[in-house]
Amino acid sequence: MPLLIKGGEIVTGTEHYIADIYCEHERITQIDRNIDAPSGVEVIDASGKYVFPGFIDPHVHIYLPFMGTFSKDTYETASKAALVGGTTTMIEMVCPSRDMSAAEGFRLWQEQAAGKSACDYTYHMGVTRFDDENAAQLREIVASGIASFKIFLAYKGAFGIDDTELYHTLKLAKELGVIVTAHCENETLVAERQKELLAAGLTGPEQHEASRPPVVEAEGVHHLMTFAELTGAHVYIVHLSCEEALRAALAARFRGVNVSVETLIQYLLLDKTDAERPEFEGAKYVMSPPLRDKRNQPVLWNGLQSGEIQTVATDHAPFDFREQKPMGRDDFTKIPNGIPSLEERVKLLFSHGVKAGKLDLHTFVNVASTNAAKTFGLFPRKGAIQIGADADLVIYDPEYRGTISAKTQMMNVDYSAFEGWEFQGRAETVTMRGEVAVRDGKFVGTVGRGQMLRRQPAHF
Ligand code: URP
Ligand code: ZN
Ligand code: ZN
Repeated sequence: MPLLIKGGEIVTGTEHYIADIYCEHERITQIDRNIDAPSGVEVIDASGKYVFPGFIDPHVHIYLPFMGTFSKDTYETASKAALVGGTTTMIEMVCPSRDMSAAEGFRLWQEQAAGKSACDYTYHMGVTRFDDENAAQLREIVASGIASFKIFLAYKGAFGIDDTELYHTLKLAKELGVIVTAHCENETLVAERQKELLAAGLTGPEQHEASRPPVVEAEGVHHLMTFAELTGAHVYIVHLSCEEALRAALAARFRGVNVSVETLIQYLLLDKTDAERPEFEGAKYVMSPPLRDKRNQPVLWNGLQSGEIQTVATDHAPFDFREQKPMGRDDFTKIPNGIPSLEERVKLLFSHGVKAGKLDLHTFVNVASTNAAKTFGLFPRKGAIQIGADADLVIYDPEYRGTISAKTQMMNVDYSAFEGWEFQGRAETVTMRGEVAVRDGKFVGTVGRGQMLRRQPAHF
């Protein structure tokens, strides 16, 4: 059924104005003042509300075999949680084990999503091994519509690649015009420091940060920058957590490296003292790179507002507190890494960014939606409110107040890292390609309607 959204304040990365939006055949077909509603059209009153482009989470894990277990969400639970939180498109990391070919990995990840997602999605193709066979398969995967790779400089012996593989992955990416997203931490330093800490009897979750301090991340960034400079590849640093790493990225940008930067909602709001909580509760807050000293948070907020950092993602990786995090009760290196937050990213960024005066509304839209669309070849189909764009719209009530709790969340995980946190503003109504998927904050969409989005390499 066509949809008419009336009287909302449309806010994009560059403009804000009051107008009506008419949507038909999954797309926005008209934007104007006082559009009349023909019969058979659903009319949604958005007066007093913002209308944002559907938000995009450019870094999630849904199917993730990792550290001896599997992350908890399915495409059904994750996509419902995403939509309720205002996220209409997710980009998942395909992370094949090193003994799996790229083609096998890509197939396996697609099987998890097919017919099960309520929102649109695409993938960053993990390159966890680089050889002639995989290179040929990666070319085919790119030709089939995947315009980004993912590499890990961390996780020695698991997803991590060596420098020869890194060099050739970036050369292939440059040739194909594919952007390379990268987890930047020096895996050798992490492994050695983990051994030292354990040998000293330091085994709790609070040791996680000490095993991979800011310089370890900054070294990883600098390392990637050197390879990007030599190959000319466009790179994107995922989950940047600290000032030292940002400085390394900015120094490289200053000398001409084509580098984009992502930070996470967790780094903006949580800090390393959360991983020091007693009774092993700190394990809820173990992820990599680790939560940092609070001094880094203003640097990250300023980096977003000034344009040094392009995106805010979640790196959503849900592992249960009761059954899975205790795998590392006596050894922090075995705690499954990840802090779930797919559902909460937008409301937390709005509350603590926009309402707190750290981000203006346009920057909020850019870092949570439009910049990801532009960086990953989805714009203007996604991340935009303009004629011809997908009718992915978030009608946002800026005055709503609520409290986060695991008891009410849609994510399939037994805790919330933000339990009891109050927030202001929420996605009241969400449309996904013209269908109302969330009404009054509740999921009313269609599981299986989500499509895998095909993207073209950028060649820049
Ligand atoms: O701790 C994290 N970040 N878990 C997910 C895997 C990754 O490194 O992105
Ligand atoms: Zn990572
Ligand atoms: Zn990740």
